[in-house]
Amino acid sequence: MKIAPSLLSADFANLQHDIEMINNSEADYLHLDVMDGVFVPNISFGFPVMKAVQKYSTKPLDVHLMIVNPQNYVSQVRDCGAEIMNVHQEACTHLHRTVQAIRAAGMKPAVTLNPATPVVMLEDIIEEVDMVLLMSVNPGFGGQSFIQNTIKKISRLRELIDKASNKPLIEVDGGVNNQTAPLLKEAGADILVAGSYVFSAPDPAQAILTIKNC
Ligand code: DX5
Ligand code: ZN
Repeated sequence: MKIAPSLLSADFANLQHDIEMINNSEADYLHLDVMDGVFVPNISFGFPVMKAVQKYSTKPLDVHLMIVNPQNYVSQVRDCGAEIMNVHQEACTHLHRTVQAIRAAGMKPAVTLNPATPVVMLEDIIEEVDMVLLMSVNPGFGGQSFIQNTIKKISRLRELIDKASNKPLIEVDGGVNNQTAPLLKEAGADILVAGSYVFSAPDPAQAILTIKNC
């Protein structure tokens, strides 16, 4: 299992310390949650903070944009060193164009679905994306409870991918912990995002390892 710790639950007054912990852990990516207070009812951090993070992170950056009009920020996300740029299907009127722009900018395009958005919304974009991110909580906050329906949704997404010639990775975000991770693995997830489970643990690097070995 690949793991992407979310910096949202880190100590924002001591980011360098927490980034170095992730650098020295078995994490596969560093997940960055950008919120605009419009698409989601919360505001997190933006480009100046991500640029600072880029200076210290040795892990590839997995940027999750919970913002309206993400197509307007493709080059800024690229300039922050993102490897993966996640945009919400619900935020993109011209999703195909946005996905193309992300790839043209040299990043891996990923499409994110809210819990209430059905997998079928991806049917005509699945061949173009490198990853699908399924939200297993309503986006905007760390520390929420896992929505069980996500398990069935992963199976439906796996069926869609099986029929496609492109094979995007399946990432799941929200409420991931040592209890939900094995269920997600069994359902077919490839990458798990974990925020509060990692950063509230007495030994965060060990918590990362626990999920990785789930
Ligand atoms: C929520 C964010 C998540 C968040 C997950 O909107 O997209 O990445 O950090 O937090 P936990 O793991 O605490 O549910
Ligand atoms: Zn996220």
